[in-house]
Amino acid sequence: MKIAFAGIGSINKVHAQAAQNLGLELVAAVNHKPDSMVEFGERFGIARQYADVESMLKDGNVDALVVSTPNYLHARQTIAALDAGVHVMVEKPMAMNAQEAEQMCKAGEKSGALLMVAHCWRFDPDVLWLKEQSPRLGKIIRTKGYGVHTHWGPSGWFTQKEFAGGGALADMGIHALDTARFLLGDPNPVAVYAKIGTYYKDFDVDDTGVIIVEWENAATSYIESGWWQPHADGPEAATQLYGTQGFGQLFPTKLELPNVQEPKIDVIDSGFAFPRESHAPQSLYDAQLKYFVECIERNQTPIPGGLEGLINMKVVDAAYESSRTGKVTEVK
Ligand SMILES: NC(=O)c1ccc[n+]([C@@H]2O[C@H](COP(=O)([O-])OP(=O)(O)OC[C@H]3O[C@@H](n4cnc5c(N)ncnc54)[C@H](O)[C@@H]3O)[C@@H](O)[C@H]2O)c1
Repeated sequence: MKIAFAGIGSINKVHAQAAQNLGLELVAAVNHKPDSMVEFGERFGIARQYADVESMLKDGNVDALVVSTPNYLHARQTIAALDAGVHVMVEKPMAMNAQEAEQMCKAGEKSGALLMVAHCWRFDPDVLWLKEQSPRLGKIIRTKGYGVHTHWGPSGWFTQKEFAGGGALADMGIHALDTARFLLGDPNPVAVYAKIGTYYKDFDVDDTGVIIVEWENAATSYIESGWWQPHADGPEAATQLYGTQGFGQLFPTKLELPNVQEPKIDVIDSGFAFPRESHAPQSLYDAQLKYFVECIERNQTPIPGGLEGLINMKVVDAAYESSRTGKVTEVK
């Protein structure tokens, strides 16, 4: 498997490490500043370096591309690769908006190459444990989740609308949104109500958000997004599930089930340590990339693929619209 990387920033270093850990052939890197690729190339033994994805594709000999550039480049680079028959794993948010995400999905359908969206929490052992256990909670009525940075936030392109599309919601809230949807069994969203604003810094994207999503199965998700917040009730992707027969949560990960015989609350501990040494460890990204490679080998549509990424983008778009209009926005 010959794999290439668009972007050589913080998360693509993690993906390149994952590719090395999996024994893949790391063949090419793309960055608009040639000098900046030297260190990345040396560290991961990547000889082929290009200023843009198109030149790399022209040279061929690449099976898969990992796109981890600023969000405004995701659609362009992904579509170029898919059109050339190269499989793509693109970082979240998959695009600037749902319209771009739709174009990416169409490019994937047309080319037959696979499109995966790196919603990494679907590969986390705690998340997978809670999903497996969730039938014990009865019908899940509501979820509560967090995608919040306390006392810090990103800088540079992340805080510029023209490069990022959105702020803390598109960057962090989307982790909580995708985790809630995954735990609920990927229902379709029906409507969104949101209050989103910028209170902590001077930039043109949001740093604070409260989003309420209504799903087709009548469950409701409450999601907080933020950068520079003075407090968070849980780390990135922390999610609580409120079911008719019990409660479940991530980080620390456990179930609380009422025992009607005793009566008392039975706590079912996942056994996973919390807090962790690293909240988003290398092993999470290794598992994610391993799944991408397996999908390619089996020619199997990845989940999370374009569809899951697109639905998240639709919710994000609807949340921004709801906050702008002050009204509930339907998701179509
Ligand atoms: N899933 C996760 O845990 C996670 C974590 C961090 C970032 N991300 C996502 O990954 C993406 C990248 O984030 P990051 O933190 O690595 O950002 P970053 O700023 O560290 O890296 C972005 C890279 O893109 C490069 N770049 C900029 N313009 C380019 C161009 N025209 N052509 C090629 N390369 C160009 C930059 O030089 C840099 O190497 C974002 O979409 C972000 O939301 C996901």
